[in-house]
Amino acid sequence: MALTLGIETSCDETSVAVVEDGRRILANVIHSQVDLHREFGGVVPELAARDHLERLPHLLDQALEKAAVQPADLDLVAVTRGPGLVGCLLVGVGVAEGLATAWSKPVTGVNHLWGHIYAAMLARPDLEPPLLGLVVSGAHSDLVRMAEHGRFEVIGRTRDDAAGEAFDKAARMLGLGFPGGPALDRLARSGNPKRQRLPQPSLAGLEYSFSGLKTALLYRLRDLGESVTDQDRADLAAAFEQSVVESLLEKLDLALDERRVAEVVVAGGVAANTLLRKRAAEVVGDRARLTMPPLDLCTDNAAMIAAAGLLGGGPRPADVDPSLGWEP
Ligand code: KG4
Ligand code: ZN
Repeated sequence: MALTLGIETSCDETSVAVVEDGRRILANVIHSQVDLHREFGGVVPELAARDHLERLPHLLDQALEKAAVQPADLDLVAVTRGPGLVGCLLVGVGVAEGLATAWSKPVTGVNHLWGHIYAAMLARPDLEPPLLGLVVSGAHSDLVRMAEHGRFEVIGRTRDDAAGEAFDKAARMLGLGFPGGPALDRLARSGNPKRQRLPQPSLAGLEYSFSGLKTALLYRLRDLGESVTDQDRADLAAAFEQSVVESLLEKLDLALDERRVAEVVVAGGVAANTLLRKRAAEVVGDRARLTMPPLDLCTDNAAMIAAAGLLGGGPRPADVDPSLGWEP
């Protein structure tokens, strides 16, 4: 049995987890900073980093207590090394290295994007690569092929905005608060996408683009002007959501046709979206088995980092790299 302590501080969630054998969560304590950043309408990097530093000690105690684990029982400390906000990553890595040194444990640096895929292995402990993954988060809309543990090949990505970023910007245009994605999801539930159709972005191959859709929403809102009703806004939210979701799934569909795989994973913060969850299951159908982590494992958390840290090979250097791609 291997016990991994996971630490995640790449953006605005502070999280500490204890995971057994990379597959079973013993504790996954998450503190969201949304209340801290709300008045600024977005994440303020300096505030985020300081808050991670202040909260980590208490979250660590909570996680160890919940898991009923002593530091001496741990086999590995896994920490997000990128991508993310540099100051936030430095806090996580600094704390992880300090603990690992004090406890005489190995530390491994983890790619946050890998973590989103490995969240699926916490949801389904029997899940093994090869698999096709769609990771949709605040900064990424990536289609990847995972051939084996620790080996990822990007086969599709966005040319401009990520899906989560598009949702956040649309939410702002619709007058919804921060964080935008979940608020737009809620508003879309009372809207009808047919009443306010928006274009569905379509590029050749496996590339995404969401900036044109964003502009279309801006113009539609400008045309409606002062006369815009709450129902219009709900309809626009639903139309925007539908365009993003169908675009994401059109490429997943294409990738599935091109490459036979038995397993598909859709993960990352945007995978918490209600319509995406429903439509992904329909689009994948019986061509492959689809795993979408439960909501609290889609958004940022340390359990997925612990899982990726143990199962993804290593230990690897915990060098902070804010613009890390899919490489280790
Ligand atoms: O993976 P994540 O928690 O953080 C990053 O690694 O970026 O993803 C955050 C993104 C944000 O853009 C947020 O608005 C979006 O995921 N998101 C959603 C929903 N929940 C979170 N987007 C649409 N619908 C949701 N229910
Ligand atoms: Zn994330």
